[in-house]
Amino acid sequence: MGKDVIVACDFASAEQVFAFLDKFTGRKPFVKIGMELFYAEGPSIVREIKKRGHKIFLDLKLHDIPNTVKKSMSVLSGLDVDITNLHAGGTVRMMEAAVEGLTRPDGTRPLLIAVTQLTSTDQESMENDLLIREPIDKVVMHYAANAKKAGLDGVVCSPLEAGKVHDTCGNDFLTITPGVRFADGEIGDQKRVMTPAEAKKIGSDYIVVGRPITAAEDPVAAYERCVQEFCD
Ligand code: C5P
Repeated sequence: MGKDVIVACDFASAEQVFAFLDKFTGRKPFVKIGMELFYAEGPSIVREIKKRGHKIFLDLKLHDIPNTVKKSMSVLSGLDVDITNLHAGGTVRMMEAAVEGLTRPDGTRPLLIAVTQLTSTDQESMENDLLIREPIDKVVMHYAANAKKAGLDGVVCSPLEAGKVHDTCGNDFLTITPGVRFADGEIGDQKRVMTPAEAKKIGSDYIVVGRPITAAEDPVAAYERCVQEFCD
């Protein structure tokens, strides 16, 4: 796996997501299912999208005591998702438990990716609310190193951090990067953005793209443009 465009299907219902996916008659995009859709529709939405032939990144960002995360990961593994994730802030022990829970009896498992600090957390809120006084980029790299130590496969990060994550954790450690926009497109609420071509250059392994595709007049053309810029 690697070098693929993941479409963030941030829709509120199965009906909306199927109407969107029905437009793709050729190539089947890798799909990200987030909390909104999963909580609205339950595990059946994962099975149905999988049945349509899509790979799935289930973005539920688990964070709890190790035993609970281990058991929950075992359930997600049974759903046959391709990638899932958790918060690195749950500690190395929680991440190790997650890998254990995710691993099937035959030794296979979905890829497991860590969220370091959310991009909505800035230096000020990290210091004031979380009492973490180190520079945020040092915290992000430390959490990425913890994820690697626990046996995870990579991190979600800004495309601007992807190069540094690879320097710290090695080129095989995956970087999944949201915050992608076309050079001539709307930025919306994202602050630090990159084009698919720039994300490729900087070494992102997967880009997560939502509205530039889902809200496009021609979503299939927008998806193909992303693939062309990022993968080809
Ligand atoms: O529509 P847009 O391309 O901004 O969607 C980006 C997707 O990536 C959304 O599902 C968003 O929740 C997710 N994401 C993000 N920034 C992060 C982590 C996840 O934008 N740091």
